[in-house]
Amino acid sequence: MLALRRTSLREFLKSKFTCADLRTLPKKAKIIGHVALVRFQDKGIDSEVLGKAIAEFYPTVKTVLRLQGISGKLRQPVVELMYGDPNTETIYKEHGYKFMLDVSKLMLCLGNSYERLRTARSVRPGEVVVDMFAGIGQFSIPCAVISKPSKVYAIEINEEAYRYLKINITLNNVEGIAESMLGDCKVLAPTLGRIADRIIMGYFGGTIEALPAALSTVKPEGTTIHLHELVKRGTGKDELWKEISELCFSLGYASTLLDSRVVKSYSATKEHVVIEFKVKPTEDLSTGPSSAT
Ligand SMILES: C[S@@+](CC[C@H](N)C(=O)[O-])C[C@H]1O[C@@H](n2cnc3c(N)ncnc32)[C@H](O)[C@@H]1O
Repeated sequence: MLALRRTSLREFLKSKFTCADLRTLPKKAKIIGHVALVRFQDKGIDSEVLGKAIAEFYPTVKTVLRLQGISGKLRQPVVELMYGDPNTETIYKEHGYKFMLDVSKLMLCLGNSYERLRTARSVRPGEVVVDMFAGIGQFSIPCAVISKPSKVYAIEINEEAYRYLKINITLNNVEGIAESMLGDCKVLAPTLGRIADRIIMGYFGGTIEALPAALSTVKPEGTTIHLHELVKRGTGKDELWKEISELCFSLGYASTLLDSRVVKSYSATKEHVVIEFKVKPTEDLSTGPSSAT
């Protein structure tokens, strides 16, 4: 088996499917618990035979799924079972915490692993964190497990993701710290009042639309926001920061850029970035019209 692991998946498959066009074979697989997810061009290779070969390459894999795409605003995967156990619920472990999920219904991006750790490590003891797009707890769970926040409010709109978010809170023994909330963050965040020391906005495709709701939880002394988005390679990060700071200003908040980073490459033209900034109301909130009730 060790001999197999020295080669790449594509090299291994090439030795098995000698007549196949090399470019149609998957280059790599995403391994989440016992499930392997692959993408490849459909050029007549029997998908079950290919799936079996992939499971042979990865000894811990029991299920092989083909990822055909990601659908809708909730970013749900579209998959086909290629080979193996049809049970696609699994547990993925990283940096001392665990995520349970059904890989056929929900996305877990492995490329964001370092950003999850980095974000969790930036949380200071006693902080109140609001995770506006919580998913299955990709940021809430690391923050609650690794740092010592007083509270993490985890808001999620998709009932399936919310179900796993609650399971993951229990699985990681952070029930007293992390609190799950089911619904639209644009509606639920403003009900929290001005309590947030840190706000995490881990979403793509219009994250800024939820910024006014995020600002309604900002403390008078200021709050740190981590806003994620997909942007044009190169200049996209700066354009996003300009848009954020202008919106904050128009809503009565001063914003200061703390950091802006590329989390990962997304496509030939786009990259996933995170803008980390501090916001503070410019007026005294106790007398202004936007004061919390
Ligand atoms: C791509 S996932 C990302 C999860 C996690 N924040 C991360 O960055 O790894 C985005 C999540 O936001 C949820 N979502 C989308 N719109 C939402 C909204 N308006 N309010 C709350 N959750 C929302 C989706 O259902 C999904 O679970």
